[in-house]
Amino acid sequence: MTQAASDTDVTVCEVGLRDGLQMLDALFPTDQKLAWIRAEAEAGVREIEVTSFVPPKLVPQFVDAQQVVEGALAIDGLTVLGLVPNLKGAERGIALGVHKLNFVMSVSRTHNQKNVRREREDSVADFARIADLVRSQPDGGRPQLLGGLSTALGCSYEGRIPVEDVVRYAVALAEAGADEIMIADTVGYADPISVRTAFKAVMAEVGSLPVSAHFHDTRGLGLANVAAALDCGVRRFDASLAGLGGCQFAPGATGNIVMDDLCFMLDAMGMRTGVDLQKLVAVREIVARNLPGTALYGGLARAGLPTRYQPAAERARMPA
Ligand code: COA
Ligand code: ZN
Repeated sequence: MTQAASDTDVTVCEVGLRDGLQMLDALFPTDQKLAWIRAEAEAGVREIEVTSFVPPKLVPQFVDAQQVVEGALAIDGLTVLGLVPNLKGAERGIALGVHKLNFVMSVSRTHNQKNVRREREDSVADFARIADLVRSQPDGGRPQLLGGLSTALGCSYEGRIPVEDVVRYAVALAEAGADEIMIADTVGYADPISVRTAFKAVMAEVGSLPVSAHFHDTRGLGLANVAAALDCGVRRFDASLAGLGGCQFAPGATGNIVMDDLCFMLDAMGMRTGVDLQKLVAVREIVARNLPGTALYGGLARAGLPTRYQPAAERARMPA
């Protein structure tokens, strides 16, 4: 189930530069986005969703997609992701050479309409065209294709989302050619029991395909949901530094789970993420100075590491 490199047990993917910035009117300067990406990669984060291939007219924050991707691709060892809502977005991502395309559709019919302006079946058909395009790329230029399901654990328009629908669209994306399925709690409705139910149901139907998780901490259950997903075997998680995040097309959406706290929890549980916790917390300064007045969240940043804390990687090297 794991996608992690051999020296890590769990992969964490920073999505603050996409999920965290997409709602902001003010443009985060391109050089500062790249400073953030470089610093976080330097702290050991191996996957970063650096931009969104949506029409700049609709979301001006990502008008600099090309410069950001080019800068990020120059960083050694970093897996560069971009969000794509449709075929046109995938074409842009492939042309720039991103390593992973994060396709999104919503399990909620209403949210899919509001977010990408189409029926869910049309999103599945578009995904199949994207998968064909990806497969037609030459070896070495073929990105990984993530099939993401937003509002899979609840929707602010529709409320509860039936697990059967989550499974149906997960299977549809898997059959169309996804390399990985991502289940997203876009508006923070999930709890550990609903997480277990949905992830187990999906994992039972998509065979050996990895299933990853994207949680928001809207109601404070984000890390509890991570623990439940870990129990199901999930080994890849999205998060955003300082808990930035939201979706302009989902009322009530707030921040993602806090990357720094996620890494601390995993590390404390003995799971190696490759991340240096102190270096990671220091990266918040770049976000803080560029977003004055924006609330930054996180317990680790507030309280610091426990006295004589031993990182998981050090503990792993010690004789039992
Ligand atoms: N990137 C850049 N331009 C794009 C594009 C993309 N991914 N997709 C479409 N366009 C352009 C088209 O070329 C067209 O341009 P034109 O007016 O110059 O001819 C225009 O945008 C409209 O195209 P259309 O296919 O009719 O799109 P739409 O208006 O139905 O919008 C989406 C569909 C998916 C592009 C839009 O709803 C969207 O970007 N949604 C995502 C919103 C988001 O960021 N949500 C949060 C993240 S989950
Ligand atoms: Zn999100």
